[in-house]
Amino acid sequence: MTALSGKIALVTGASRGIGQAIARRLASDGATVAVHFHSAVEAANATVAEIVAVGGNAFATRADLSELGGATLLAENFTAELVSRYGSPAFDILVNNAGLGKRAVIEDITEDDFDLLLQTNLKSPFFLIKALLPHLREGGRIVNISSMGTRSAYPTMAAYAPAKAGLEALSRLLAVHVGGRQITVNSVMPGATATDMNTAARDPVASRAVAETIALGRVGQPDDIAKVVAFLASDAGGWVTGQQIDASGGQRL
Ligand SMILES: NC(=O)c1ccc[n+]([C@@H]2O[C@H](COP(=O)([O-])OP(=O)(O)OC[C@H]3O[C@@H](n4cnc5c(N)ncnc54)[C@H](OP(=O)(O)O)[C@@H]3O)[C@@H](O)[C@H]2O)c1
Repeated sequence: MTALSGKIALVTGASRGIGQAIARRLASDGATVAVHFHSAVEAANATVAEIVAVGGNAFATRADLSELGGATLLAENFTAELVSRYGSPAFDILVNNAGLGKRAVIEDITEDDFDLLLQTNLKSPFFLIKALLPHLREGGRIVNISSMGTRSAYPTMAAYAPAKAGLEALSRLLAVHVGGRQITVNSVMPGATATDMNTAARDPVASRAVAETIALGRVGQPDDIAKVVAFLASDAGGWVTGQQIDASGGQRL
């Protein structure tokens, strides 16, 4: 028996970066993981194959969360797959990780940019949670991946940070709303993490400058964030709800 054996998780944006690390970690802790992706079908299939190769359970599911209706489609496909596999749409862990960034100050954000960032980072998680709440088992977990850009001022996150701040507000109020069902809802706020989204954190020279703003003296790796999510998903994390958990190694404290 492992910590999450018998549990079912959906991780959005699990084809790459932080979401992929979360999917691998929850699967190695024993959960069956739905690996959501948008365009990176090969990466998503490779993630599933990697999990299965080491004895885990996973399947891929596609949806465009920048589109109105993407969240509803994802919820329908995910629950239909659960019904076909297990005869029930019930599941245990939802990780809203898929996200989109645009580094631009307010003067350079168009209305289309604003709508895209709000849709992908806030509206889609909102409607995914709404569609899946009836199927989340008692004692379930919702983890929303935000950003430490909500607590520290980065002018080039003009539309991104407000979208993530909305996600944090949603997490907090939902924690109260679903607490009676013993479901926890938390936000995790990564700092600079080496992924496709944060090329500076990947670059050996640029990442050194970023590391100087971080108490622990290095940029984050996807696994650093996955460990925090795994804690929140586990029995040990069951008394933590409605929190914004900084996972930045102490960036810009
Ligand atoms: N990296 C950082 O420094 C950092 C810092 C703070 C917060 N975060 C947050 O952490 C989360 C993961 O970021 P990451 O750095 O791992 O990003 P990433 O490497 O760019 O991966 C993004 C993931 O989101 C999916 N995605 C992108 N657009 C989508 C869309 N329109 N519809 C559905 N899925 C979409 C991608 O799917 P495809 O592969 O199919 O395109 C991919 O799986 C995000 O919410 C991000 O805001 C990251």
